[in-house]
Amino acid sequence: MKFFIDTANLDQIKEAQELGVLDGVTTNPSLMAKEGITGKENIIAHYKKICDIVDGDVSAEVIATNYDDIIKEGEELAALHNQIVVKVPMIKDGIKAIKYFSDKGIKTNCTLVFSAGQALLAAKAGATYVSPFIGRLDDISTDGLNLIAEIRHIYDNYHFETEILAASVRHTMHVIDCAKIGADVMTGPLSSIEGLLKHPLTDIGLEKFLADYRKGNK
Ligand code: E4P
Repeated sequence: MKFFIDTANLDQIKEAQELGVLDGVTTNPSLMAKEGITGKENIIAHYKKICDIVDGDVSAEVIATNYDDIIKEGEELAALHNQIVVKVPMIKDGIKAIKYFSDKGIKTNCTLVFSAGQALLAAKAGATYVSPFIGRLDDISTDGLNLIAEIRHIYDNYHFETEILAASVRHTMHVIDCAKIGADVMTGPLSSIEGLLKHPLTDIGLEKFLADYRKGNK
């Protein structure tokens, strides 16, 4: 399972990278705005900074919603760095654009996916990644993890190569459950990854080991 961090915060990206288990980054316009990154030049410079920190794929989302503009914007983003993955919304023109990018060898991440049917369409269009938003489904009392399982089943039936990128991950149990189901990638906050470290018996055990060492090595 690949671990992506879902943020545009450079300090958090660096911290995750230093942990040694980071495979990539996802961003979206809201995450960029949260960091105060506005204006085309600043946004482009920020994507480059992220690519310099991490080794893996960096999703950069288009703002355009019509086919011609998605192609123009997506090609500009893809030209920035070979790690850039063009993030395209799950709309009709988006699907057409994903097919175009796929034919041209440009990596894509189909975002805002909330149903198995949408995920099937994204795979048919040749998306590199499909991003089902599990946290936002949970927010409206719908089982986000069940969607991951449905997509896994469908993709395995037909050997689709599109990777299931479990998005809108909110906490560590989401990560573990997505891994059990077989999501290819998860993207979430740093806390969802660091939560995997934690167990009280680890802390108690370490404290005891160190105390015993100190007793014999005064
Ligand atoms: C990732 O690609 C999505 O943009 C992100 O996971 C959305 O997460 P949220 O629902 O926590 O905003």
